[in-house]
Amino acid sequence: MQRLRDRVAVITGAAGGIGLATARRFAEEGAKVVCADVDEEGGAKIAEEVGGLFVRTDVTSEDDVAALFQAAFETYGSVDVAFNNAGISPPDDDSILTTGMDAWRRVQDVNLTSVYLCCKHAIPYMRRQGKGSIINTASFVAVMGSATSQISYTASKGGVLAMSRELGVQFAREGIRVNALCPGPVNTPLLQELFAKDPERAQRRLVHIPLGRFAEASEIAAAVAFLASDDASFITGAEFLVDGGISGAYVTPL
Ligand SMILES: NC(=O)c1ccc[n+]([C@@H]2O[C@H](COP(=O)([O-])OP(=O)(O)OC[C@H]3O[C@@H](n4cnc5c(N)ncnc54)[C@H](O)[C@@H]3O)[C@@H](O)[C@H]2O)c1
Repeated sequence: MQRLRDRVAVITGAAGGIGLATARRFAEEGAKVVCADVDEEGGAKIAEEVGGLFVRTDVTSEDDVAALFQAAFETYGSVDVAFNNAGISPPDDDSILTTGMDAWRRVQDVNLTSVYLCCKHAIPYMRRQGKGSIINTASFVAVMGSATSQISYTASKGGVLAMSRELGVQFAREGIRVNALCPGPVNTPLLQELFAKDPERAQRRLVHIPLGRFAEASEIAAAVAFLASDDASFITGAEFLVDGGISGAYVTPL
């Protein structure tokens, strides 16, 4: 499929997990991929692999974010897709009873303020073109509560969801679609390591997933490619869940 042929797609957090898998998928579908990350080695590597451009970007810096979209436009002539995906979930973001202001603010900055900055700087290019697709990475925790809390992370993803909905509505008649991607838990090396050490912890989560497993990053990337493409031309302001059925489940299969 070449649904993104010659489209210019910016991906933040392109050096890791979901961003990396999406860079590959976008390139397979014909896009010119602009990879942004604080990880210079990983970012440059994936950009080289997909024949795209790497722009070292800290998504919490407005100057960096403005320079990122400018570089995409100056190099390739348009900004058609923005996948605002970089995010963190550090261990010091935990229960509200123990999480301090430093962890709270850091997570809000990287997960939520970054999405505000990326949308703010991508939308003017898309308005001039009269066309664009923005996909902001939220999470299934934006729509469900968890007893194993990461309070700032959850609040930040709720913010991403609400902001995406509002932008989707505001810019709908200018040809710009904005959707919030809500992935379920993804089978990342970190998660594998954590659960190998603590099978009970894995089981406590797996029992809630009707499909009975965590997602592969490539399965999330497939959903992002769909939202980026014209196949999703009537989808905007959506809460796009790719969660193996978690958010719809009460009793799951044995
Ligand atoms: N992995 C999951 O289970 C899961 C589930 C739901 C949502 N998400 C969300 O998906 C997104 C990607 O997660 P992932 O699992 O691929 O994570 P990851 O840690 O594998 O990749 C995140 C990337 O973001 C980059 N990054 C971190 N801070 C940055 C900054 N300030 N500026 C630029 N880049 C920065 C990192 O260097 C890394 O390459 C995040 O927003 C995350 O919250 C992940």
